[in-house]
Amino acid sequence: MSRIAYVNGRYLPHRQAVVHIEDRGYQFADGVYEVIAVERGRLVDEEPHLERLARSLGELRIASPMPEDALKAVMREVLRRNRVRDGTIYLQLTRGVAPRDHPFPPASETAVVMTAKRSRPQSPRVAEDGVRVITVPDNRWGRCDIKSVSLLPNVLAKQRAREAGAYEAWFVDASGHVTEGSSTNAWIVTAEGKLVTRPASHAILNGITRQRAIKLARASGLALEERPFTVPEAKAAREAFLTSTTSHVLAITEIDGTVIGNGKAGSFATELRRSYLDFSRGAGPEA
Ligand code: PDD
Repeated sequence: MSRIAYVNGRYLPHRQAVVHIEDRGYQFADGVYEVIAVERGRLVDEEPHLERLARSLGELRIASPMPEDALKAVMREVLRRNRVRDGTIYLQLTRGVAPRDHPFPPASETAVVMTAKRSRPQSPRVAEDGVRVITVPDNRWGRCDIKSVSLLPNVLAKQRAREAGAYEAWFVDASGHVTEGSSTNAWIVTAEGKLVTRPASHAILNGITRQRAIKLARASGLALEERPFTVPEAKAAREAFLTSTTSHVLAITEIDGTVIGNGKAGSFATELRRSYLDFSRGAGPEA
């Protein structure tokens, strides 16, 4: 079965799904995106993802291409045509097509692309063993809160992680504090059992999984503090973990070669992962 993409009003096999060479997303990375998980046919945290999309568009002054209901209908149609019940849907919206020139074009129509893909559940082994991260200087722009398709520093950081045999790279700011991962948010657990994650600001993408994990942690009575933490603090932490749409909650067992805790997924990460998976499998409107 060939995969079907939505491209500016049409549903096309991927082979034929193309965008114009003067799409500003292609030429200037002038666009935004979202990745939403689909679990048992439901879109996980659909509303907060769409709110963040609207916010990203607003911050870049890109016009909304269609009412939210229409966007939701297209997402469901893309999932249906690709027979995705467990996987992800990818939405990309750009400022559209115009002759190449830096200022906003006087008239352009927001271009919309959506794709969906199936995914297998992460092996329980990965969750139990945890993953390795490396740290890299944060060389990104000052508006990481916008989910822009301009991801070159993230791509380079992730590649460095892969070449170092690690799962993720954590960006570290000029003051030595961890901002976030190249495609995930960063957390530690202190010796006293307090969860720590950096507060939402222009320095990080406010992850939907991050926000959900904060709610779940608070609901189960865990102590939580939103504040920056340093690399030495993370290396000495009782636990470390990361969150994202595709990784859910995932324990970190090594940072730059330093083993965290006993080198296995800790109890806080394991418990939070379980409650996140319970939530995501039961939540959200039927797709
Ligand atoms: N990445 N930080 C960055 C830089 C990200 O790109 C992402 C998401 C996150 C986690 O956000 P969320 O919990 O909303 O997925 C944090 C997506 C999954 C991606 O680029 O594929």
